[in-house]
Amino acid sequence: MYIKDLETPNIIVDYEKLIKNIEEASILAKTFNKNLRPMMKTHKSVEIAKIQEKYGINGIQCAKLSEAQVFSENGFKDIFVSSEIVDEKKLIYAKKLSKKVEKLILSVDSVEGIRRISDVFNDEKIYIRIEINSGHNRCGIKSEDVLILYRELEKNKNLIFDGVFTHGGHSYYSKDKIQRKEAALKEAEEVLRAKKILNENGIKCDSVSVGSTPSFIFSLKIDGITEVRPGNYVFYDLKQVKLGVIKLDRVSLFVLSQVISKPDDNRAFIDAGAKVLSMDYLSFDNEKIYGYIIDHPDIDITNLSEEHGWLKIKERTKINIGDKLKIIPVHSCLVINNFDHFYLVKGEEVLKKVDIEARGKFE
Ligand SMILES: Cc1ncc(COP(=O)(O)O)c(C=O)c1O
Repeated sequence: MYIKDLETPNIIVDYEKLIKNIEEASILAKTFNKNLRPMMKTHKSVEIAKIQEKYGINGIQCAKLSEAQVFSENGFKDIFVSSEIVDEKKLIYAKKLSKKVEKLILSVDSVEGIRRISDVFNDEKIYIRIEINSGHNRCGIKSEDVLILYRELEKNKNLIFDGVFTHGGHSYYSKDKIQRKEAALKEAEEVLRAKKILNENGIKCDSVSVGSTPSFIFSLKIDGITEVRPGNYVFYDLKQVKLGVIKLDRVSLFVLSQVISKPDDNRAFIDAGAKVLSMDYLSFDNEKIYGYIIDHPDIDITNLSEEHGWLKIKERTKINIGDKLKIIPVHSCLVINNFDHFYLVKGEEVLKKVDIEARGKFE
């Protein structure tokens, strides 16, 4: 079967590009002596996780517990769940999961959160990492408050301190390579400061973990960082291209979509809308762009409704009703979650259909 034979809309993943992305990150992590613990929420697929394992990783990271469950059932034994879990029922679920794997690591960023974990893990050991805010201003404490959390944690001997971590989400606001490097330095600086405070108080902090795809290449070279946790690097997307992380030819994930209407020379509509591409956009010349159409730089996706992509044809170009277009989405992690499977392709040939087992696992 060939790409042209696939129904639309669908996801296709270029096998050779995927392998290149995965292999390169593993080699880089080894070269710079860092542990690589990739984020699974990008691809949510056991098949891709196994490829990552083959090329070398040191455990996996999941955003959520239910995602971790899927990977644990498929042989992954060292799992870090990076979103804070505070709900009692979920913590009981985490306790069950911790018995099935070799190492389950939970994250905390509050005294309340630690108390809640402590209440449930009163007779069972669990690894804990403290989240530091390094500039993304999502979750995470200020590095100077790390001792407050550590002191709470050490009250329960079942809570085994596994180190500090942060997510350099602020790297996504960078305008150029210099700013990306600054974002990576800031990301590292904050976790290293937390480690220093702990060490000055006689506390060991073995794991100092950072993670984001735009900062990855710089984080590798920073002394004291022990672990990097990129996720998006397996696919990349238009956002990473705009940030200058990679060139277009390294993106491995595409949406395959069909032209279903062409009312006039300037407009056409495809069968991939917001439910496929997601509403994430990039701004170019004051216009919102929802994806990049391969082989048609003269056509922009300027709007999405739920089921339709709105194409603006800038110049006379050859597209016709029925054409199948390959689109690089703005944010591949959001696209993956919209499908039950993707097609792995080599050139124009379809190799196989791959399940996205952890799709929809948000709990
Ligand atoms: C906590 C955490 N770590 C790592 C990552 C991976 O970052 P990226 O998607 O830039 O590869 C994410 C992504 O959102 C994250 O939230």
